[in-house]
Amino acid sequence: MSLKPIALALLTGALTFAAAGLVIAQSPAPTPAAPPAPQAFKPSLGDLMTMTIQPRHTKLGLAGQEKNWTYAAYALHELEESFEGAAAVWPVYGKTNVAELMEATTKEPMEAVAAAIKSGNAAGFGEAYARLTATCNACHQATERGFIVIQAPRGTPFPDQDFRPQKP
Ligand code: HEC
Repeated sequence: MSLKPIALALLTGALTFAAAGLVIAQSPAPTPAAPPAPQAFKPSLGDLMTMTIQPRHTKLGLAGQEKNWTYAAYALHELEESFEGAAAVWPVYGKTNVAELMEATTKEPMEAVAAAIKSGNAAGFGEAYARLTATCNACHQATERGFIVIQAPRGTPFPDQDFRPQKP
């Protein structure tokens, strides 16, 4: 009997063994149970009001009081984006179509505020800002939140920010 077939058989066996070893080496270690997928953060409408809309409304008011029209224009734009953001997260809230109601109530006074800022009209700003503030409260009343009463800021809650116009 020739030794060749035996040698071949051994070689094949060795290769198979090596291949099996390779497979074992490559197969990933048993993974522990995957951690739960992170939950997307969905702030409540009250959160968004407190985090974005309220401070921007405040800053807009403070800028207007200081006749800082450059910053007021910026704050108005930020407030507009805050309204859009809240409506995007909560297009409908309870029985209220927030997106529609926001658009319907805030659009006109926001435009009036923008016009006053553009013309640097302090009295016009005060009047338009008061109407904008009234729409905050009108919506709160319409959504059974009439106890949330917004007013023009009295003093600043932002001690680290200067709202006065900057000299160029
Ligand atoms: C389209 C309707 C709507 C408009 C417009 C609106 N709000 Fe609201 N707001 C709500 C609703 C509804 C809640 C209550 C949300 C809740 O209870 O989760 C609320 C809650 C709030 C709260 C939270 C109250 C608290 O003390 O925690 C603040 C602050 C607030 N709004 C400020 C404003 C300001 C400032 C404006 C205007 C610049 C405004 N809102 C305009 C509907 C509106």
